[in-house]
Amino acid sequence: MDTAPFRQRRLLLLEQMQKAGGGVAVIPTSPERVRNRDTTFPYRADSYFHYLTGFPEPEAILVLIADSAAQSLLFCRDKDVEKEIWDGFRYGPDDAKDAFGFDAAHSIREFDTKLAELLADQPALWYSLGHDAAWDTRIATALNAVRAQARAGKRAPTIIHDVRATLDEMRLVKGSHEIALMRKAAQIAGAAHRRAMQFTAPGKYEHEVEAEFLHEFRRQGSQAPSYSPIVAGGANACVLHYVDNNRLLQDGDLLLIDAGCEVDGYASDITRTFPVNGKFGGPQADIYELVLGAQTAAITAIKPSASFLAPHDAAVRVLAQGLIDLKLLEGSLDGVIETASYKRFYMHRTGHWLGLDVHDAGEYRHGDDWRKLVPGMTLTVEPGCYIRPAEDVREVFWNIGVRIEDDALVTAEGCEILTIETPKKIADIEALMKK
Ligand code: GLY
Ligand code: MN
Ligand code: MN
Repeated sequence: MDTAPFRQRRLLLLEQMQKAGGGVAVIPTSPERVRNRDTTFPYRADSYFHYLTGFPEPEAILVLIADSAAQSLLFCRDKDVEKEIWDGFRYGPDDAKDAFGFDAAHSIREFDTKLAELLADQPALWYSLGHDAAWDTRIATALNAVRAQARAGKRAPTIIHDVRATLDEMRLVKGSHEIALMRKAAQIAGAAHRRAMQFTAPGKYEHEVEAEFLHEFRRQGSQAPSYSPIVAGGANACVLHYVDNNRLLQDGDLLLIDAGCEVDGYASDITRTFPVNGKFGGPQADIYELVLGAQTAAITAIKPSASFLAPHDAAVRVLAQGLIDLKLLEGSLDGVIETASYKRFYMHRTGHWLGLDVHDAGEYRHGDDWRKLVPGMTLTVEPGCYIRPAEDVREVFWNIGVRIEDDALVTAEGCEILTIETPKKIADIEALMKK
C-alpha cells in the first residue's frame, strides 16, 4: 500500500492543529460489531481513522501531537500467534509503525495510561464528542486523571476542538489518490448496472437482480456495497429506501436500482431505472425523459463557484415544468416552485457529497449561504419522480418511480461524470437489454 497520501493528510491535520494553538488529537477506529451471538458484521474501519492511517485492523487509535515535533502515534493490537491462527494476521505495534509510517506505535493495552500522560500540559484536546458514549467516558477519565494531578503542577487541556469538523473540510475536496479509487468504484458499479440490465426479465425476482450486483462487485475486487442495494420493481420504486428486494418482477413494470460499491473505502452511488421487459411504455418514457432532462440541467449547473444548491434548483425547474405539462400539477412554474407542490412527486434533494461515506462528510452551508463548489469536490446528481396512486392522478402514471443518479467530480471547467459508462438514454438502455 502507498502510505504517502495518509501520511500527508496527518501532516496537514497537524499543521491545522498547530495553527489553532496545538494540542493532542484522538481518533479511534470503529469497533467490531456483533451481528448475533458470536458472529460479527463484516468489519469496516471508521472513515476518519482510515482517511488518516489506511490501517485496517479494529482496536486501533490514532493520536496526533501538534507540538513542534508534530508526531503521529498508533495504538494497536499486539502480535498474538494463537489469535492469528484463528483470526488472521495482525501487524503488532512494531511492524505497524514501519509499514504505515508512524513516529511511534504502542500496544492498545497502554492507551488509557499513555493518553493521560500525553494530555498533561497540552492546551487542547481534539476529539469528536458524542458519537460513542463509551469513548466519551474513556476520554473524560483520561482528562480527569490529568486534572487530579493539579497539585503536582500538571495542567489538563482547557479547550476541546471537534476534530471531525477540521477533517470534514479536508475530506470534502478529494486528492488524486481518492479520485482514482472513486473512479474505480464508479466503473465497477457501472459494470454491475449494465450486467443487471442484461439479466433482468419478467419472472425474475428482485433478489436475483441484486445477486448480479453483489457478484460483479466482489468479482472486480470491491470489498462491499457502499449501502444496501435498492432493487425496486413496480410500486416499490416509490418507496425511497426500499431494501426488501424480494418481489417478482412483472412484465410492464419499471425497475429502479440504486446500488454502488466501495473500493478501498471509497463509494460509488448509482441509480438507474429501466423497464423489466426491455421496452419503455409511453407514460413511463414521459416520466423517464422528464427526469433525464432534469438530471441534464442539474449536471450543467455543476461548476466551480456555483452554489451546492444550483443543481437542485435547476432540476426542480425542469421537473416542475414537466409535471405541469403532463397535467400532474396545476399552476404556473413559479407558483409550483413557490408552494413546493412538486414535492408530492419529488421529495428529496438532487445530491449529496460522496466519498468515504456514501453521504459524505462536509458542511453544506457556510453561514447563511449554501457553499460554493470547488474543483475536487465529489457529489451525486440524482433527481427523481415518484407517483403514488391517487384519485387526482391519471391512472397511467400510477406506481411509476424513476430516479437517475450519477457521481460527479467538480473540475476547473465544470464537472466530470465518473459514472458515464452506465447507459441512461432510453435508446441505449433498450439496445443493451435487447442483447
Ligand atoms: N443510495 C443512497 C442515496 O442515493 O443517497
Ligand atoms: Mn443512491
Ligand atoms: Mn445518492
